[in-house]
Amino acid sequence: MKIIPEITNRFSPTTFTEQELSEEQLTTLFTAAGKAASSYNEQPWRFVYALKQDSEAFKNILECLVEGNQEWAKNAAALVITVSKKNFTKNEKANAHNRHDLGLAVGNLCAQATAMGLHLHQMGGFSAEKAINNLNIPEGFEPVTVIALGYYDGDFVETPRKPIDEIVFKGKWK
Ligand SMILES: Cc1cc2nc3c(=O)[nH]c(=O)nc-3n(C[C@H](O)[C@H](O)[C@H](O)COP(=O)(O)O)c2cc1C
Repeated sequence: MKIIPEITNRFSPTTFTEQELSEEQLTTLFTAAGKAASSYNEQPWRFVYALKQDSEAFKNILECLVEGNQEWAKNAAALVITVSKKNFTKNEKANAHNRHDLGLAVGNLCAQATAMGLHLHQMGGFSAEKAINNLNIPEGFEPVTVIALGYYDGDFVETPRKPIDEIVFKGKWK
């Protein structure tokens, strides 16, 4: 059985075309993200985004990135900061799966974006402190990654993958 194209066609480019994205496209992506499963249905994911055409807001997010990422991410059509709520809302206890669940939501967003002909590049290279200040992220929430998003015009760039027998164990760890 073949892997679905939403998975095989995904990769993280460092170049984007100048084509803009619309609010409607972003809403579609975030709606897909929000359909992910989450521990106790907490839905701890939050997203702060800026389209390139909203230059002030875009700059606010771009400035949070480390220099090496800023160099290419400045050409993205949109930037998104992914954020996760640390505690459960119902009892304020720590949610051990908050980042896991944000990752599931971002996985949905990746698949939806790929199906829409878009590419994205996630980054851990950013200042969480700057993000909290620049974007008014409230207490109890942690910025986790930044996503650069847009159209790509070029060849598929394949990065190496670990062999299946290095990541999967039948029965018990060998
Ligand atoms: C959580 C996370 C953090 C990452 N941080 C960066 C980063 O700061 N800068 C960068 O250029 N790429 C970053 N990447 C992209 C990875 O390097 C890339 O996904 C990996 O090399 C596999 O390539 P592919 O996405 O094209 O399959 C990050 C990816 C993830 C998921």
